[in-house]
Amino acid sequence: MELNYDFFYKWAKQYLKLNLDSYKEKQLQRRIATVMKNTGAATLEEYALEIQRNPAIKQRFLDYITINVTDFFRNQDIFEEFEEQLVQQLAPKFSDLKIWSAACSIGSEPYSMAMMLDKHGIATREKILATDIDETILKRAKEGIYSEIEMKNIRATDWVDYFDLAEKTYYLSPAIKQKVRFKKHDLIADPYPDKCHVILCRNVTIYFKNDVKDEMYRKFSEALVPGGLFFTGATETIYDPKAYGLRKISSFIYEKEHRC
Ligand SMILES: C[S@@+](CC[C@H](N)C(=O)[O-])C[C@H]1O[C@@H](n2cnc3c(N)ncnc32)[C@H](O)[C@@H]1O
Repeated sequence: MELNYDFFYKWAKQYLKLNLDSYKEKQLQRRIATVMKNTGAATLEEYALEIQRNPAIKQRFLDYITINVTDFFRNQDIFEEFEEQLVQQLAPKFSDLKIWSAACSIGSEPYSMAMMLDKHGIATREKILATDIDETILKRAKEGIYSEIEMKNIRATDWVDYFDLAEKTYYLSPAIKQKVRFKKHDLIADPYPDKCHVILCRNVTIYFKNDVKDEMYRKFSEALVPGGLFFTGATETIYDPKAYGLRKISSFIYEKEHRC
């Protein structure tokens, strides 16, 4: 039976405030069909009812659609390149950095930044802003508690001092936790912050249609101060950075151009 995606997208916009029109269609529909299968619903109308009735089904749907896979220091070699740019180029130019980790999932990305800044003694103007559309993962992020698997990129020599270990669970130190402020934010619908020196938006734009991505890159560029850095995911090359007033300075790192 054909699934009525038009109905479902309209329903999701109205009831979940989720703009599914912006996501790449085939990929998204495959994901909806897969996550629906496990609930026993035969149609999207039935599935929508299930989501409305059952908070666990609703959460599973949101988790599955928004895909919150993440890692500390994700793609370590690129993260190290970014560390070098930040420490050697950016930090000497600006005294108090404003940093935004957009679509931060369970916090591994903004906390990686906080640990890295701490290691180099770099101050930020305010707490690192970490945002995501998913309120449940933001709650988890605030707790700063991670399993062994989630810690796989934390090298004992460099970073483990920032965690306490008890029964195979890692508790992030309060000193690092308090450097990050978490807030709900939808990259499609909400206004972007301004005057940022660093924006990380990694492994998110891949899920969106080209016109939506285009608008996001424009808004990210606007949110940066000239000379600020935009750090993308390892599969998220921006093909025409100049169109957004950005300059590629390294793989997956872009600098906001200075106006003439
Ligand atoms: C694959 S994770 C990326 C996490 C982290 N940036 C990284 O690279 O490890 C994608 C995140 O994007 C978030 N997301 C999806 N759609 C979003 C939207 N419209 N606005 C803000 N965040 C969104 C999801 O909730 C999820 O946490």
